[in-house]
Amino acid sequence: MTIVVFGARGSVGRHVLNGLVAAGERVRAASRSAADLGVESVVADLDRPETLGAALAGASGAFIYAHPAGVEGFVAAAREAGVRRVALLSSASAARPGAEQNPIARWHLAVEEALERSGLEWTFVRGGGFATNTIGLWGPSIRAEGKIRVPYPDAQSAPVHEADLAALAVAALTGGGLGGKAYVVLGPESLSLRAQAAAIGAALGREIAVEAVPEDVAREEMRRGLPDLAVTTILRYWAAAGDGPAETSAVIPEVLGRPARTFAEWAVDHAADFRGRPETS
Ligand SMILES: NC(=O)c1ccc[n+]([C@@H]2O[C@H](COP(=O)([O-])OP(=O)(O)OC[C@H]3O[C@@H](n4cnc5c(N)ncnc54)[C@H](OP(=O)(O)O)[C@@H]3O)[C@@H](O)[C@H]2O)c1
Repeated sequence: MTIVVFGARGSVGRHVLNGLVAAGERVRAASRSAADLGVESVVADLDRPETLGAALAGASGAFIYAHPAGVEGFVAAAREAGVRRVALLSSASAARPGAEQNPIARWHLAVEEALERSGLEWTFVRGGGFATNTIGLWGPSIRAEGKIRVPYPDAQSAPVHEADLAALAVAALTGGGLGGKAYVVLGPESLSLRAQAAAIGAALGREIAVEAVPEDVAREEMRRGLPDLAVTTILRYWAAAGDGPAETSAVIPEVLGRPARTFAEWAVDHAADFRGRPETS
């Protein structure tokens, strides 16, 4: 039976696709535009339910991103197609106190609740802050100037490697007994923003300077790489973090039986995203 991967070019989706292929599963990559990913592909849009019947035909499972506008149509199409298992990339914010007041959490909760009502076997992969956020946040200044500008250099967070989120989704879709469970997946270690810059520097083989700047200066720079809501959420998180340790989680070792990937490993995997500093004479 086929497993459909929506967003198969996304940072998490592409690892889900590769993980399923490595596990010997038959896969179908779904994207809003034609994609050549070396597997069967289909054009589909989670916000346009009329595209989902063909995408899900003959499928037993699906990996999806959270798209509340189309989720009822997704559920109907999945049931019609005989899909049994769904892995949703959700957000750790959905599990935090005050989730109903947080627009990002509400967005993900709306999809979780629809899947809970659906009768499908669901697994929620509730990701914490993605390590990939640093590419949008700091990529331009690291590439151009070899530095980051942040308002709270000693704030700590526990970035999660997108491949670990994907690995959990693959386990859920391949029968790991994870149905009906919601996992909050944070990174395995709490690191200050300075330490994260140092890890990226180590992967690049050069030092990355860290400049403390007022929040409004950082906000303007961050808005060039991330949507406003993400910028506001991240700034609020850093401001509230103080210099105490961030929450981590042990879901990856507990469920998958291997250590979670560290930020240092992530930085090595993504060194190319930060290269390009002009040579100085
Ligand atoms: N960043 C964080 O810290 C964080 C934390 C918790 C949760 N999250 C969740 O993770 C998501 C981002 O994951 P990511 O980094 O893997 O994203 P990404 O690299 O930006 O990829 C998003 C994927 O979603 C697909 N997509 C977008 N709109 C779609 C639609 N209408 N129908 C079907 N597919 C659609 C895109 O595929 P095509 O363009 O090929 O159609 C793309 O491949 C966020 O949206 C959020 O839900 C993020």
